[in-house]
Amino acid sequence: MRHILNTNQFSKAEVEQILKSSEKMEKECKVGKVKKSLADKIVACVFFEPSTRTRLSFEVAALRLGAKVISVENAENSSSAFKGESIEDTTRMLCSYADIIVLRHYKSGTAESASKVASKPIINAGDGVNQHPSQAMLDFYTIKKEHGRLDNLTVAFVGDLLNSRPLHSLMPLLMMYPGNKFYFISPKELELPREYISELKKNKIFFEELHSLEKVLPKVDVLYVTRVQKERFSKKEDYEKVKDAFLLKVEHLKILKKDAIIMHALPRVNEIDTAIDKDKRAAYFRQAQNGLYVRMALLLYCFET
Ligand code: CP
Repeated sequence: MRHILNTNQFSKAEVEQILKSSEKMEKECKVGKVKKSLADKIVACVFFEPSTRTRLSFEVAALRLGAKVISVENAENSSSAFKGESIEDTTRMLCSYADIIVLRHYKSGTAESASKVASKPIINAGDGVNQHPSQAMLDFYTIKKEHGRLDNLTVAFVGDLLNSRPLHSLMPLLMMYPGNKFYFISPKELELPREYISELKKNKIFFEELHSLEKVLPKVDVLYVTRVQKERFSKKEDYEKVKDAFLLKVEHLKILKKDAIIMHALPRVNEIDTAIDKDKRAAYFRQAQNGLYVRMALLLYCFET
């Protein structure tokens, strides 16, 4: 049984296998010939936090592969968690009905707690500020597709680096490949947690932490913009102070490399001017589309023995 809990669990060979399988899924979807490999399976999507992309793309991925789907949105209020049922007991019940559980929760570590009592695979669809492995895998797939390589890239992350689970999940994947360099641009209050910095230092990987965007734009191959995560702030005034710290504007495009890509896990709130959407470097909607193919591959990965 294979859970998907975080991106540190994958070997480089497994990552490459999943990327290859995602490519196959994309080709099959585009010609309308998807093998119904999960025809006898039931996929449960149980979300304790809101979602548009992750839940719906996992559901469509399951349906495309011939599986059936049961789904709980707003699980905090609409499942028996509202009455006080623990995640462990909820997981035991889900495993008695479905063949795989796709779980999103606001608390870091919940997917791992669920996996300890699960008799079926658990896919972490985001646990607090910790990890979002399917997002990272689709981000990686997007970078490969857009740039044709995963090494020797200069990548800048901008915004709320403290709370961004896509960033926390993507870093271990990017660090697997040689020559990648990193710039981290955030307000002081939202810097990347020190554990990731320690890991970069330990592995002698080039990185720089900055508080200005303009200086790095001419150097980057990938500009990954993150949303300031309002839901992670306990005080409204703290959020208000940093929410508009970095906004990507049309004038920034003039100094961005011609073949750079702009990524964002979405939802976008106010971080990227919508006028940028028509620029070919704006990859974020292509990125979200790739989520379908990658999540098909991840469902298949969980059922492989
Ligand atoms: N990127 C992402 O996780 O989007 P949703 O919250 O809409 O699933």
